[in-house]
Amino acid sequence: MAAPGYARRGSITFLCLFLLASVVQVTVCFSAKVYVVYMGSNNGEDPDEIMKQHHQILASVHSGSTEEAEASHVYSYKYGFRGFAAKLTDEQASHISKMPGVVSVFPNSKRKLHTTHSWDFMGLLDDQTMETLGFSIRNQANIIIGFIDTGIWPESPSFSDVNMPPVPPGWKGKCESGEAFNASSCNRKVIGARYYMRGYEIEEGSDSDIKVSFRSPRDSSGHGSHTASIATGRYVPNMNYMGLAGGGARGGAPMARIAVYKTCWDSGCYDVDLLAAFDDAIRDGIHILSVSLGPESPQADYFNDAISVGSYHAANRGVLVVASAGNEGYPRSVTNLAPWVITVAASSTDRDFTSDVTLGNGVNTTGESLSLSEMNAFTRIISGSEASAGYFTPYQSSYCIESSLNKTKTQGKVLVCQHAERSIESRVAKSALVKEAGGVGMILVDEAGQDIAIPFVIPSAIVGTRTGRHILSYINNTRKATAKIFRAKTVLGAKPAPRVAAFSSKGPNSLTPEILKPDVTAPGLNILAAWSPAAKNMEFNILSGTSMACPHITGIATLIKAVHPSWSPSAIKSAIMTTATILDKHHGFIRADPEQRNANAFDYGSGFVNPARVLDPGLIYDIEAEDYLAFLCSLGYDKRSLHLVTRNNRTCDRAFKSASELNYPSITVSNLKDSFSVTRTVTNVGKSTSIYTAVVSPPAGINVTVVPDRLIFTRIGQKINFTVNFKVASPSKGYSFGFLLWRNKRLHVYSPLVVRVSPAKPGLVR
Ligand SMILES: *[C@@H]1O[C@H](CO)[C@@H](O)[C@H](O)[C@H]1NC(C)=O
Ligand SMILES: *[C@@H]1O[C@H](CO)[C@@H](O)[C@H](O)[C@H]1NC(C)=O
Ligand SMILES: *[C@@H]1O[C@H](CO)[C@@H](O)[C@H](O)[C@H]1NC(C)=O
Ligand SMILES: *[C@@H]1O[C@H](CO)[C@@H](O)[C@H](O)[C@H]1NC(C)=O
Ligand SMILES: *[C@@H]1O[C@H](CO)[C@@H](O)[C@H](O)[C@H]1NC(C)=O
Ligand SMILES: *[C@@H]1O[C@H](CO)[C@@H](O)[C@H](O)[C@H]1NC(C)=O
Ligand SMILES: *[C@@H]1O[C@H](CO)[C@@H](O)[C@H](O)[C@H]1NC(C)=O
Repeated sequence: MAAPGYARRGSITFLCLFLLASVVQVTVCFSAKVYVVYMGSNNGEDPDEIMKQHHQILASVHSGSTEEAEASHVYSYKYGFRGFAAKLTDEQASHISKMPGVVSVFPNSKRKLHTTHSWDFMGLLDDQTMETLGFSIRNQANIIIGFIDTGIWPESPSFSDVNMPPVPPGWKGKCESGEAFNASSCNRKVIGARYYMRGYEIEEGSDSDIKVSFRSPRDSSGHGSHTASIATGRYVPNMNYMGLAGGGARGGAPMARIAVYKTCWDSGCYDVDLLAAFDDAIRDGIHILSVSLGPESPQADYFNDAISVGSYHAANRGVLVVASAGNEGYPRSVTNLAPWVITVAASSTDRDFTSDVTLGNGVNTTGESLSLSEMNAFTRIISGSEASAGYFTPYQSSYCIESSLNKTKTQGKVLVCQHAERSIESRVAKSALVKEAGGVGMILVDEAGQDIAIPFVIPSAIVGTRTGRHILSYINNTRKATAKIFRAKTVLGAKPAPRVAAFSSKGPNSLTPEILKPDVTAPGLNILAAWSPAAKNMEFNILSGTSMACPHITGIATLIKAVHPSWSPSAIKSAIMTTATILDKHHGFIRADPEQRNANAFDYGSGFVNPARVLDPGLIYDIEAEDYLAFLCSLGYDKRSLHLVTRNNRTCDRAFKSASELNYPSITVSNLKDSFSVTRTVTNVGKSTSIYTAVVSPPAGINVTVVPDRLIFTRIGQKINFTVNFKVASPSKGYSFGFLLWRNKRLHVYSPLVVRVSPAKPGLVR
């Protein structure tokens, strides 16, 4: 006899058949994992019919057993797009992937979170100024922003609904009750709240050994409250971090509405839950979706990545998806690569948090810090390597790793510790280790992290490698070296700003090099915003990451949507990109940390967002659903899948000759052989009669011509095509950067040009 059952082991569910064969009992287990079965667009089919179809597919791989089919079913996606999530063996998954109607089957991967002064710094005009400029942004109360994140702390003053008009008609979302959250937790500001944890529980276990805090939309980590308040927090008169960075602060579009889709739990966010959130968000009627999370690089292709799939259908329903670029920092690490999302890099503002450090020889230096305690006297300073304990080598101890510090040697001292490059080790935890070993202060040598303010648990400061070397050489050359670390303070305008943050993930695009990513940059370094008191007993906190940059763009996109409700997601995106700037506040070129080299389009895309100009971009590069189809065709996706995804019968009649042909607001030619031409279409959204002239700064070694080089518009909404011709003038290696500017007296419409000359083919030498 056979009794099917599930046993959980780690993150894999085993489907076991207990077979009693004559004398021996044999247990045959097939490992079952959670998979997404993606089935393309929903063309208005009845959700119940769709669900029935999912169960039929599942029953067919379970030898017709409806019970087993139901037991393996996790989610059905049936509103924004079609598909389901289920526990399947590899064989079953492979079988289903070949069925008609199935686009792709992919495993349930885990995604990571890409963990106010920033608005003043960007020059976001106050409501009154905008009104006098002729833009009414009052309509923002009708714009609903969805946040796929860790939930919300609805009692935060940032989410107060005082003076908010009633919930917009047509809103179909709901306020799900759960632990410490009920219908009265939502208000006129937080108008919807849902949570998704089936995929998380299957992978991580729902038992008491796995801590799940708040089985409800309530935010236990703080990340979700932080991102929502950056985009749309109400004005809070005295927002500060334990006295630092004080002042009034608000989000970009403070009167817009929030719809919460809590999908991320203590250890991350799973694909099957993410897709359920996208599915509901599209149906609920949100206008903008903010997604401060993403896959680790390299990202899977568009039909095997939950965020790409969900955002594709969102974009085709008129919802702009704003996503973070990632915090991996090195070339080709940027993620959220789909052309239908706007991908945001992180940069600094002119506000910094530093601690002064004075060495015993009177030399002063400063490091980055948020630690509010200070040392009251000069104390011995030693290198972590001098404090090595037990079996640890001095080299290992120089990183102050766990157990590597001898308590006798560390007691009462300041330690100089190294932070390994690209390490994801917690910097706060390192200060806790030093404290536990008896240390009273820490200098952390961390080139890439030297601009990130960290709330260390003892007086501490982050310095770059150069300063680190100076301090170590002082220690080496002094019999009894001493130091004193002061409490952190707020510093304005000390360094050029904005700069691209060292951790911000960089291009080129590893999936489709013809599409420049990231698209734009916004503040993401040391951002003060609302927080969850459950995570740390405070109302506001300072965080860094592209996670914080993303909601700055979300807030700006919301204002554009409020002023221009009929604009498509790609028009809003174009307005943000073509008005961005590549100059910093001192009119120098924006630089990139940590080395402060000149930044380029792989660091910041089109540049640093300029909220004062986004509402009046003059021209836009618009993209329609058919264009995405032509784009996907040019990448070689098979016609059957494309038909399911787009439900368009003309599948690849109009394939682009290259993905560069998509009407993107930036132009990348990733493999230029001799010459290549790209056509773009701009739509006039400025004055009805206007004339623009092309200004080109060609990438090094490339001749660029634009035909025509004058665009004469006679009405609003008019479209004009132009062609950009690239020709290799002198051979060069790697990528080079330039720009195309459409300029008139009032406006300029900026597009980066990125070109890589195809490496010359070696001759046939035998
Ligand atoms: C909802 O929660 C609030 C505060 O936690 C509580 O005062 C209220 O009674 C609850 N309402 C319901 C209907 O449970
Ligand atoms: C270093 O800073 C201390 C405290 O702010 C100050 O008293 C001292 O003069 C400074 N030393 C130098 C060399 O600037
Ligand atoms: C720690 O250092 C002290 C003093 O140098 C030494 O006596 C002791 O053995 C060391 N302990 C370990 C675990 O290394
Ligand atoms: C300090 O001294 C150690 C050992 O004597 C040596 O390895 C290190 O390179 C020196 N560091 C500096 C910055 O002089
Ligand atoms: C697409 O083709 C199918 C079957 O060939 C047909 O039923 C459907 O009406 C067509 N749709 C459109 C929009 O032409
Ligand atoms: C612009 O180009 C598109 C596609 O290349 C073409 O379909 C359209 O007719 C052109 N429009 C004009 C005004 O030439
Ligand atoms: C590139 O432009 C320069 C200056 O206009 C011209 O002299 C040169 O011949 C051009 N090179 C090619 C390969 O077209």
